Amino acid sequence: MTEAEQHAGRPSGSPLDRARSLGSRLLRSAWDPTPGSLRRWALASVVANVGIAVTGAAVRLTGSGLGCPTWPRCTPGSFVPAAHPEHSPVKMAIEFGNRLLAFVVLAVAVGCVVAVLRMVPRRRGLVRIAMIQPVGVAVQAVWGGLVVRTLLNPVTVSVHFLLSIGMIAAAFALYARSGEGDAPPRRLVHRDIRTLGFVLTAAMFVLLVVGVVVTGTGPHSGDEAASRFDLDIETVARVHADLVWVVLGMTFALLFALHVSDSPGRARRGALVLLGVELGQGVIGFVQYFLAVPALLVGMHVLGAGLVWVATLRVVFLMRSRGPVPAAAGDAVLGNPADAPRTPADPTEAADAADPPNPVRPLGV
Ligand code: HEM
Repeated sequence: MTEAEQHAGRPSGSPLDRARSLGSRLLRSAWDPTPGSLRRWALASVVANVGIAVTGAAVRLTGSGLGCPTWPRCTPGSFVPAAHPEHSPVKMAIEFGNRLLAFVVLAVAVGCVVAVLRMVPRRRGLVRIAMIQPVGVAVQAVWGGLVVRTLLNPVTVSVHFLLSIGMIAAAFALYARSGEGDAPPRRLVHRDIRTLGFVLTAAMFVLLVVGVVVTGTGPHSGDEAASRFDLDIETVARVHADLVWVVLGMTFALLFALHVSDSPGRARRGALVLLGVELGQGVIGFVQYFLAVPALLVGMHVLGAGLVWVATLRVVFLMRSRGPVPAAAGDAVLGNPADAPRTPADPTEAADAADPPNPVRPLGV
């Protein structure tokens, strides 16, 4: 390793050396965690869970849902893909590939759990949230088996996706909570604005549920053998699109309320990002509908659904604070610098600190 590389913490040598070094850094980031490394594990879990929802949709969209016709084995005689007269090797590889990705999600989940358990001081609330990840992967693995064994029944497929939505929420909660402290939650916006945020989140969940009903009624079943919901596709798609208008209206209202109440910039920006992601997703939704649901756009729509969900949860978390991350002795305080306790250098600042200017207070928060 050259001196410059040693300083940069980068190994020289073969790709194997680099992979080894990356592996050991990953292990260290979970085994000797810092608040920052825990946060990165949680973010990786959000990405992994959104990612596997998209690759799961890709399995369906390529008609590979029954590529491995059974579970937990891939074919009746083998746990891994094996030549089978009735099953295409390509579809088998696609479906099996998605099964393997579950191990990546599990590895990230274990990384999160190890990091929260090894964190000093240990934060029990975070341990509970992190435990949802490996348990959720196990539940999803078994449920995935049910999806295969029910020949991709749209009810089981829909629940599989919605469980992923729950996993994404838990992973995001870990991400958000690992960037803040354990003080009692303090609202940063007016009570009614926060309530609007909760109602918007509930409406978004209903929109996602109706979305999977549209999918369960539409053409992308994942295999010719799969049944469909006995519903009129145009009607369910219209209900789905109508709900989008409701959600968009609520997001506009939230953004407006955050602005006129002079709420924290982070919450306002979060709501603006949400609105942007919703508009992008809405455009994909309409275009795919009018183009008779081409697979690529449907895949993008599933990714969009994950991103919209994350953006919604983010706004809710940005509307409150739980203080700075508890730091180990000698560590810098993480999280929102505005939350960090500090010693005022100027006595007038001390007076301000005792009675901090709160632009939201006139509204009674
Ligand atoms: C914020 C906006 C939107 C969200 C969060 C959303 C969410 C979803 C979700 C979660 C699914 C199910 C994905 C799956 O299980 O594979 C879905 C499917 C679908 N959505 Fe949306 N959607 C939105 C906007 C729209 C709009 C405006 C339209 C226009 C009509 C639309 C049309 C569809 C269609 C046609 C499907 C079924 C695709 C298929 O056959 O697989 N979506 N949506």
